[in-house]
Amino acid sequence: MGIMTRDQNGWCSTQLRKAIEKQNITPICFDYREVIGRINYTPEASVKKVDILQDLDAMITRPIARGSVEQLLFRMDLLHKLERHGLLIINPPLSIERAVNKYCSLNLLQENGLPVPRTAVTENPDEALKCFHELGEDVVVKPLFGSRGLGATRITDPDIATRVFLTISFYHGVLYLQEFIPHGGSDIRAFVVGDRVVAAMRRTSTNWKTNVSLGAKPLSLNLSEELETLAVKAAKVVGCKVTGVDIIEGPDGPLIIELNSQPGWKGLQSVTKTNIADEIVSYVLSELKS
Ligand SMILES: Nc1ncnc2c1ncn2[C@@H]1O[C@H](COP(=O)(O)OP(=O)(O)O)[C@@H](O)[C@H]1O
Ligand SMILES: [Mg+2]
Repeated sequence: MGIMTRDQNGWCSTQLRKAIEKQNITPICFDYREVIGRINYTPEASVKKVDILQDLDAMITRPIARGSVEQLLFRMDLLHKLERHGLLIINPPLSIERAVNKYCSLNLLQENGLPVPRTAVTENPDEALKCFHELGEDVVVKPLFGSRGLGATRITDPDIATRVFLTISFYHGVLYLQEFIPHGGSDIRAFVVGDRVVAAMRRTSTNWKTNVSLGAKPLSLNLSEELETLAVKAAKVVGCKVTGVDIIEGPDGPLIIELNSQPGWKGLQSVTKTNIADEIVSYVLSELKS
């Protein structure tokens, strides 16, 4: 079983390695940046001495890491190639592409009847300013491919909105605006593996951004059946098998704000008895058998 990871000694990768070893399977960790893809001669994909298609039955993907458009497309195409040739990849590459792109994933969720905040996306700063007014002049602007709350900004002032939109567009960014949902400083992370939520937490913060990586406190949470169903449906719509589903509870009910296809679980593991790495590895093994 392979683990595609940018940091072999990172906390989650180490947990996965241990969970795989517990099953008497040898884990092989490698990095996208070490892989060779060959066309019209073999091995078609290798890392050092490992022939990925011959030597592995399954691969778990950890974060795809930063890179240029060329590097990211190569990494994704490599995953697609491996999947086409029969390697079980968790998460499937298509689901990673959908989930990392907030415009793509939120569309899919909404089209499938799941509740999401009103959101507007454009490349044009003048149009973005109109959307800022449409959305009630209290918006969260997020990077389309962001994570860990980095770069997400709450804007309530039209002058600041104008400056921010012009700046983002100067750097060829896409303007992703979402109505601000008053959530009282907490949200929910549901961790879906396969077709169930294996653990969940409430994240509380003095800040409106409740990412654990920004200092929010994780609290254990017994998820209601309603939210569990919501999280599992969301993961299914996007096609992710291992997913961190972020849910805000607004005044009108729960809203899904994003799906993480490469979620970390260190914070969550600190508030749950379930061994999350074991759950992931058992799921991968069950998929291999089916
Ligand atoms: N529309 C919103 N209204 C209020 N808070 C939000 C909204 N969107 C995001 N947040 C807060 O910002 C955090 C980060 O946003 P999220 O969409 O999950 O992006 P990231 O990929 O950076 O985690 C969320 O956990 C939540 O606390
Ligand atoms: Mg998030």
